[in-house]
Amino acid sequence: MSTVLIGYGSIEGQTRKICQRVAQKVEALGHRTVLVDTTERSEKEEWPNPDAVIIGAPIHEHHYPAAVRRYIKAHSEAMSKPPGMFLSVSLAVMSDEEDDKTALQHLASSFLESVGWQPADIHQIAGALKYTEYNFFKRFIMKQILRAAGGPTDTHQDYEFTDWEALEKNVEDFVRTRLEPSAAA
Ligand SMILES: Cc1cc2nc3c(=O)[nH]c(=O)nc-3n(C[C@H](O)[C@H](O)[C@H](O)COP(=O)(O)O)c2cc1C
Repeated sequence: MSTVLIGYGSIEGQTRKICQRVAQKVEALGHRTVLVDTTERSEKEEWPNPDAVIIGAPIHEHHYPAAVRRYIKAHSEAMSKPPGMFLSVSLAVMSDEEDDKTALQHLASSFLESVGWQPADIHQIAGALKYTEYNFFKRFIMKQILRAAGGPTDTHQDYEFTDWEALEKNVEDFVRTRLEPSAAA
């Protein structure tokens, strides 16, 4: 049995939900998990020496949360050893435009370079639109963006775009190909 550290920073809660689902899947595959909310943990806390690391981070205004950045930077040396997977959560991932896809890849790769972590796998995951939970300004901004993108603009309801089946498949592939071969070695 291996230990997988799953760290996340979530502003509206969807990345937390995604990482909780990732933890459930890893456990169902027979491994232990340590779930870390990077917004609550101190970087000085002891590193649990996991056999694999999964980090989830949402994009807000073209940036990943500062807490995730700080967490990875603080542990980048230890994180360079075990296999890693980065889950980038956004809405732009649903765009059909090539430019948007390129921009997302660039955002993730420049973030990872700046924090000094090179995960083996990077996945772009669709998040959620929580109109009913946003304050007036966020709701207004998000509605404008979604209108321009041809997305839903009914602010009386929330929309969850995460493909849970695809997420679980990514986790299973990661565990089987990256974690289990190294555990067996
Ligand atoms: C204020 C705000 C700004 C956002 N900015 C972006 C953005 O720049 N690009 C993008 O693709 N998605 C953007 N999103 C969508 C989020 O990435 C999406 O809602 C995600 O599910 C949020 O994850 P969280 O709930 O873990 O914070 C934004 C959402 C909000 C509320």
